[in-house]
Amino acid sequence: MTSLPLRPDTPWLAPLAGWSDLSFRLLCREMGAAVCCTEMVSAKGLVYGGRNTEELLACTAPEGDRLGDGSLVCDSPLVVQIFGAEAEFMEKAVRLLQQRGFSWFDVNMGCSVPKVTKTGAGAAMLRDVPNALRVAEAVIRAAGEGRVGFKIRLGWDGEHEVYADLARRLADMGAGWVTLHPRHAVQGFSGRPRFSAIRELASALPVPVVASGDLFTAQDGIRVLRETGASAVMYARGALKNPAIFARHRELVAQGALEGELPPEEPAAREDDGRNIGVQQAFEALDHVPADRAELALVIRRHAFLARHYSPHLALLKMRTFVPRYVKNLDGARALRQQIVSCTGWDELDAILERHFSDTSN
Ligand SMILES: Cc1cc2nc3c(=O)[nH]c(=O)nc-3n(C[C@H](O)[C@H](O)[C@H](O)COP(=O)(O)O)c2cc1C
Repeated sequence: MTSLPLRPDTPWLAPLAGWSDLSFRLLCREMGAAVCCTEMVSAKGLVYGGRNTEELLACTAPEGDRLGDGSLVCDSPLVVQIFGAEAEFMEKAVRLLQQRGFSWFDVNMGCSVPKVTKTGAGAAMLRDVPNALRVAEAVIRAAGEGRVGFKIRLGWDGEHEVYADLARRLADMGAGWVTLHPRHAVQGFSGRPRFSAIRELASALPVPVVASGDLFTAQDGIRVLRETGASAVMYARGALKNPAIFARHRELVAQGALEGELPPEEPAAREDDGRNIGVQQAFEALDHVPADRAELALVIRRHAFLARHYSPHLALLKMRTFVPRYVKNLDGARALRQQIVSCTGWDELDAILERHFSDTSN
C-alpha cells in the first residue's frame, strides 16, 4: 500500500476550518507542505448533500491542473478531514468520498468549538471513548487500515485525560497515524501545549505521531520534532501567518537542524491567564513572529492568483481576510489593511499591492 510522507522533513498543513481551501493548500504546497488537510467536512452534510460540501471538497485533477501562467499545480496527497459522532454516517461519508476518488481521511476528535461539540463531535468525542472507538472502527472498516488518521487532544479537561489509552486503541484498530494537539478541549487555544504528552505517544505507539500546537515558526516545529520524537509536524496558525513556514522548515532540515545544536529559541509568545480563548484571540499569540516584506509580497501575489483562478466569486472576499493577517507586522500594515478590507475589485487589489510592494516586485 502507498503511504503518506510522515517524516521530520515533510511538514503537513493542518485542517483549518474557513481557511485551508484549495487555493491556500496549493500555495502551501508550493511553499513546501508535503501533505495538506481539507477543512473539516460534516459527515451528515456529505451524506445529505449539504450546500457547502462541494466547495469544501474542491481539489485539482489527480494529475494536477495547468494554470494560465503555465504552472502545474497538484493537490495531492490530500487528507479529507471529517467530523461526526455517529458511526453510521461517518462510515457512509468515507464510502462516498472514496467513490469520488479520495483515499486518505482524518477524523476530527479535537475541535472545541461549541457548534461542533454540542453535536457530540470534535473534541466532545473525548468524553465518550466507547463511541469514539465505534466511529473509528466504522471509518477504518470503510477506508482500510492505515488510511485514516485521528486528530485528538489530551482529553476534555484536566480530570479526564484519555489521549494515551485512546491513541493506543486507535493504533491497535488500524489507524494510519495519530495527531495530538496537547491541550484540553476546555482550554481552546489558551495555556501552553504539553509536548511531553507527544513524546509519550511517540515512544508508545506503533504508528506515526504527528505533533500540533503552537508551532508558529519553523524553529518551533524543529524543536518539537527533536524534543518529542514525533514523526512529523503539522503547521496551522503559523502557516496562516506566513505559508513560507514550510520552505523554512525544509531549509532548516537540509541545514542539519534536526541534529547538532538546537536552533535559538524564538521570543516567547504572549502569556495568557489560562482562560479558554477562542479562534479570534488565538491569532494574537503570533504577534511576536517577525514578517519578511519581500517574501510576503510574493506569497500574497501568488495567493491572489490561485484564489482568482479557483474561486473567482469568493476569492476577493477571501483575500480580504487572508492579507490583513499576512501583513500584520509589516510597516504600513494598518493603511494596507484598511485599503484591502474595503477593496471591491481585482484591479483595485492589484493596484493596492503594487503601491505597497513596488519595492519588492520581480
Ligand atoms: C482558524 C482555525 C481553524 C481550525 N480548524 C480545524 C479543523 O477544521 N479541524 C481540526 O482538526 N483542527 C482545526 N484547527 C486546529 C488546528 O488544526 C491545530 O491543531 C491548532 O490550531 C493547533 O496548532 P497551532 O497552535 O500551530 O495553530 C483549527 C485552528 C484554527 C486556528
